[in-house]
Amino acid sequence: MPTTSGSFVAEWAKAQKPRGPSVRNSSVFYRNLEAELDARRIKHGCMSLHTIPPGASDFASADTLGLGFSGLLRAEFMEELARNPDSWLGACGTRLAFGNTTYLETLECEVADFHGAETAMITVNGGQANGAIFTAIPRPGDAIVYDEFIHATVHDGMKNSLALVKRSFRHNNVESFVETLSEIRASQPLISDGQRCVIVALEGIYSMDGDTPPLRELVAAAKEVFPEGNVQFYIDEAHSNGTLGPKGAGLVCALGLEKEVAIRMVSCPKALAAHGGIILCNNTVKTMILNESRSIMFSGAPSFHMLAAIRAGYNLMKTGKTQEAQLRVEHLVNLFMERLTSDPVWDRANDAMILRVPLWDLDEEAQPFATHICPILTRPNTKHHLYLTFHLQLAGFIVYPVFFPIVPKGTERVRLIFHASHNDAEIEALAACICAWAEEMLSIDQEGGDGIRLPKAARQAYTMIETADLN
Ligand SMILES: Cc1ncc(COP(=O)(O)O)c(C=O)c1O
Repeated sequence: MPTTSGSFVAEWAKAQKPRGPSVRNSSVFYRNLEAELDARRIKHGCMSLHTIPPGASDFASADTLGLGFSGLLRAEFMEELARNPDSWLGACGTRLAFGNTTYLETLECEVADFHGAETAMITVNGGQANGAIFTAIPRPGDAIVYDEFIHATVHDGMKNSLALVKRSFRHNNVESFVETLSEIRASQPLISDGQRCVIVALEGIYSMDGDTPPLRELVAAAKEVFPEGNVQFYIDEAHSNGTLGPKGAGLVCALGLEKEVAIRMVSCPKALAAHGGIILCNNTVKTMILNESRSIMFSGAPSFHMLAAIRAGYNLMKTGKTQEAQLRVEHLVNLFMERLTSDPVWDRANDAMILRVPLWDLDEEAQPFATHICPILTRPNTKHHLYLTFHLQLAGFIVYPVFFPIVPKGTERVRLIFHASHNDAEIEALAACICAWAEEMLSIDQEGGDGIRLPKAARQAYTMIETADLN
């Protein structure tokens, strides 16, 4: 009988053990697949599923406000189910055919109202929403200008887009943004004439970096380069929904820029601890998406239980029940940084590039929000991000390594996500555990030599590869 998976380190180790020899007598179909996987395993780059051990400290899930952990969302969801006892569980059709309901439309009106948008469109997930937006909205002759760190699902959407030009600009860099817009203005007569548009794609909080875009400056710059007003903004608020702005309404609401941003996207498995995607836009954009997006036209509509969970989450946000959690997260991030940077090892580890938090080097003007996502950068182009992950995981902290191609080469990191449900002692223990690892890495550095001594947790993980039982 198949078995369920275990903890991250055990499953990681099992996943790196080459399997080619065991499929020598299988069909070429399986041998070819295993050969490709073995190429990843040899480089220790094979990903695998794992489960979370009970009692572990979660610094990885997106349940930032603790709505899932605390049971608050479940309680509100059960009430929502009780209020709607006759609802069908599944959607049983596409949105355009049988899958539309009054419940879904009412919820869209409520959500749009909460975010100060004209309308909303709920999708099965945020990835589908991004796919739908970028397939349907940029029209032939339009251009897309995107921050180089924009999410993978926006890239997937852009691949199917009809836009004539797609150009990235340097992350959060207004100068680079202006240069990119100016190049488009110079090379695209229909856009400079104001007949075609530029769609700018940004995130509210960048998922791997935890920083926010200088949105006001970007909007002002766009107006300067294109006074005809044919630049429109798209903001992926996956990570800023629930965590920034009044009652968690997101970055755009925090800055009062609702009128300046044509499309926003909210992904519900994040702070809402639910499931689904929400497109905030006007009726023109919504109608275009319904007519042009194949992933909406040919896929089932959101199911009732998904919508009920979203409504439960919004009920909590609307009534201000999540605001305290928003503030608590800010306190925890500040506490963590204070503990980390006041530890005696910090300066030495920082100088030796063993630990860095570039986000905290920015001044308040460049980074006005202390967000729940905190990337700890490790020594570039090494396996330190893996070593730190092993060290923390084996100590009971759930964190994951982030590496190329998810982030650029040389910026490997461990991403921490802070939750309102953490207590101060957990945060202090996490900072102390990271510092103990840094001390160990410094002592390995000092030994010099051939540099092959591994830190203790990594030795343990590598031994697990040798002893992994693949059956
Ligand atoms: C910034 C961002 N956008 C979009 C998505 C996709 O959302 P979903 O998980 O709802 O498909 C994610 C998911 O991780 C994300 O981080």
